[in-house]
Amino acid sequence: MAVIRVNPEDLRERDLALKELVEYFQALKASKGRDITYNVRTYGCQLNESDSEKLCGMLQSMGLKEAREDAPADVIIFNTCAVRENAEDRLFGNLGIVKADKKSDKDKIIAVCGCMTKVPENVEKIKKSFPYVDLVFDPQQLHLFPVFLRDAVGRKKQLVNISAEDYIVDDSLVPIMRKRKFRALVPIMYGCNNFCTYCIVPYARGRERSRDMSEIIDELNKLASQGYKEVMLLGQNVNSYKGSNGERFPDILEAASKIDGFNRIRFMSSHPKDISTEIVDIVSSNPNIETHLHLPLQSGSDRILKLMNRPYNIEDYLKTVHYFREKVPHGSISTDIIVGFPGETEEDFACTLDVVKECEFDSAFTFQYSKRPGTKAALMEDQIPHDVVTERFGRLLAIQNDLAYKSNLAKVGKTEEILIEGRSSTAPDILTGRTLSNHLVNFTIPEELKVEGRSADDYEGMLCDVKFTNARPYSVDGEMVRLK
Ligand code: 5AD
Ligand code: SF4
Repeated sequence: MAVIRVNPEDLRERDLALKELVEYFQALKASKGRDITYNVRTYGCQLNESDSEKLCGMLQSMGLKEAREDAPADVIIFNTCAVRENAEDRLFGNLGIVKADKKSDKDKIIAVCGCMTKVPENVEKIKKSFPYVDLVFDPQQLHLFPVFLRDAVGRKKQLVNISAEDYIVDDSLVPIMRKRKFRALVPIMYGCNNFCTYCIVPYARGRERSRDMSEIIDELNKLASQGYKEVMLLGQNVNSYKGSNGERFPDILEAASKIDGFNRIRFMSSHPKDISTEIVDIVSSNPNIETHLHLPLQSGSDRILKLMNRPYNIEDYLKTVHYFREKVPHGSISTDIIVGFPGETEEDFACTLDVVKECEFDSAFTFQYSKRPGTKAALMEDQIPHDVVTERFGRLLAIQNDLAYKSNLAKVGKTEEILIEGRSSTAPDILTGRTLSNHLVNFTIPEELKVEGRSADDYEGMLCDVKFTNARPYSVDGEMVRLK
């Protein structure tokens, strides 16, 4: 399949649509006597978060105001995830909920985009069961969203626009409204060629295509000069990055670390088949690259990895983990694990538990296998019964929770630099942030360090040193000792 670069005609059409929408929403504002609002609801991974930032940027440029999360809004976009069935079920549940809103306000626009729209069965279901959804469009054509929205406005019939092509769009062509004022999400590549047998992503996101390195570095320089402290280099598989002049991911990582201004450079995800000691060496020798590696294991059994079409073995995986632990002694490793892949025996699962114990993951995203129609694994015999999966899942979780707690406990008594993310969601006077190793920290500000007139929100994006006082299963408690 050809990779489509954006053609100037499309962009002219897009800008025209944008202009028409500005006028349309201005008129709507005048007739309703209030601001016209939008709400983008994001499911799934950071790449979806990044897409949502672009959708928000375009909606802002149409003159709309962002409504609070989940609040009623005039334009509601569901940016969906298809990786597991429960994310899909959540979308259908939420589409049911907005039906009444749409009935009471005919001007309201409801749109669905994201990975679910690339699965034909989902589109059929939306057409049949949710005819009041105005617009369905796919994630690869995000840059043309204003064209689709203009065409959907005022139309009585649902508009579905799903492309079969793989697009690559220069991010500078799309306005971006970044959710966090200190963190920039920067996709460096799109798509995936790996076809792990359980995974829908290669079907939803198309083949791998990398942005030009010069384009990425220009964007990073701009972000640094705008004051962003943290940058997240994103891709389904960042280590397969291939620039048009033969550049590789280590080149991007090193170049990013040399840019003045970033305190934290993060990257995800890394596929164990491509991670090299070179990446670990770059992490260990550059103080502004986070000392954290996300390395999805998926299973601890070589037999299951083969069935998953994951071309690495446990021996190699463990070598990488041990090399990282040796070179980055205060770093952390997180992983993804799937329990109950078709054919997984008790022995296979026992291997997973053994690998988890040996790796001592600092954190893990653990999933019950979810059958995805259209993938190879969905057709495999020996799908594991639900009760067996949940029982195994419970055992894995118990072990991993202990390991995560142990990792947090090892921090107690130390003092480290924290990038403050904002106030804690549970207590208004507690701040939350992360260490360079990606440990989540909740901390207080002692009286003598409090600045009059400054609220907890004002600390977002600042750096401070925190002394760790207590460990919890998923976070560390502490007290600020110095604001930087
Ligand atoms: N079932 C369960 N988990 C899945 N993942 C991907 N596809 C599936 C599936 N069908 C998990 C993998 C991947 C993470 C993003 O989601 O662990 O690394
Ligand atoms: Fe899915 Fe495998 Fe690609 Fe990750 S590497 S997105 S799990 S197919």
